[in-house]
Amino acid sequence: MTTVTMDKIVSLAKRRGFVYPSSEIYGGINACWDYGPLGVRLKNNVKRAWWRAMTQMRDDVEGLDAAILMHPRVWEASGHVENFTDPLVDCKVCKGRFRADQLDMVPCPDKPSKHPGEHHCELTEPRQFNMMFKTFMGPVEESANVIYMRPETAQGIYVNFHNVMTSSRQKVPFGIAQIGKAFRNEITPGNFIFRTREFEQMEMQFFVHPDESEKWFEHWKEQRSAWYDTIGIRKEKLRFHQHAEGELAHYAKAAFDIEYEFPFGWQELEGIHNRGDFDLGRHQEYSKKKLEYFDEVTRERYIPYIIETSAGCDRTLLTALIDAYREDVQAGEERDYLAFHPSLAPIKAAIFPLVKKEGMPEIAQKLTAELRSRFEVFYDEKGSIGKRYRRMDEVGTPFCVTIDTETLSNDSVTVRVRDTLEQERVNLSELRGFLEARIG
Ligand code: GAP
Repeated sequence: MTTVTMDKIVSLAKRRGFVYPSSEIYGGINACWDYGPLGVRLKNNVKRAWWRAMTQMRDDVEGLDAAILMHPRVWEASGHVENFTDPLVDCKVCKGRFRADQLDMVPCPDKPSKHPGEHHCELTEPRQFNMMFKTFMGPVEESANVIYMRPETAQGIYVNFHNVMTSSRQKVPFGIAQIGKAFRNEITPGNFIFRTREFEQMEMQFFVHPDESEKWFEHWKEQRSAWYDTIGIRKEKLRFHQHAEGELAHYAKAAFDIEYEFPFGWQELEGIHNRGDFDLGRHQEYSKKKLEYFDEVTRERYIPYIIETSAGCDRTLLTALIDAYREDVQAGEERDYLAFHPSLAPIKAAIFPLVKKEGMPEIAQKLTAELRSRFEVFYDEKGSIGKRYRRMDEVGTPFCVTIDTETLSNDSVTVRVRDTLEQERVNLSELRGFLEARIG
């Protein structure tokens, strides 16, 4: 049984080049993280898997990449200027600052075994704190020039509803998908990349007739929970959480979270919302531009309801790391490894010459060059074969291919499987097909 702790994940992520603290040489900056060579590959693989499922495999969802900076009226219409707030309390003794509704989730800085308010704390009354980052557009820093760093990607989709529909000749029901950065001045970020101030979202907004919103809501709940299975996240670690009446966001008619069991408890991974006609209705009101849909068959005119699926990219990556982490003992030696689904693995196959002589490096390099156009492969000739296997296990490489003495006589190679440690002989001419069948 592997016990996964955040310390193990953070340490592996740093050591093997997945995630580093941002601006580390200056002491870091709170709640900002940088993705290293393997992290950026893993993140791209998460995004690719999502984009494929949401757009490539469907006729009824189009893609979009809207600007981060938007007209300030967008955020008035969306309700973010008024409602995107969290209750903030300060402690007059330790000068700590906390979310009033999450005191039980953080330690007291002066006495970490207790929560804020339980020690010698003096907490202020809660006050509402808007989480949007502000900046100025143009050279003059005055209130008329304030704009916001978008706190969600969704609004870029709503304001482009008509553009996308007409240019792609879609009819309701249809959706728009987008992946992009979002920024939130979180009061209590934490748990590594779980809650940060700069992060990426993978959001899809599906426009439907109001009478069909419940049907589509169910459809998207099923689709989204099934997607986590396709990227290898264990089913028993996922569950739905339905938002109770008082929990619903200001725009939502109904909401379910897909939750994952993180080492720090069950937490939201993705939100699925029935947003009703709130978004297009508000943008129509604030922009004075018609955002209705006219159904040419029924001659009906209406503001579509929106079913939203909103997943965090960084949070999915964290989930993938935690879910894949395993420890076992092989031939008396401890090993930790990442049992990534092949679609997410940053390196799909490592190619090793057994020794640096007898022409083995040349064969291995030629093979690496041949496979490179199809898979993310990695060539390594340094150190013992055991150490090379271990290094690949730790970064989740599903297959290691070794060129050995037998290769020289019969053109076959050893393929070692990360999870089972089984070794199979495969002919060089069949290797590409062998890997394709297993990696996809
Ligand atoms: N458009 C709806 C929306 O933004 P949300 O529940 O606030 O809904 C959706 O965010 C998802 O974005 C969350 O489920 C989470 O995965 C991710 N997310 C939200 N805030 C985040 C943060 N501060 N850091 C990392 N991911 C975050």
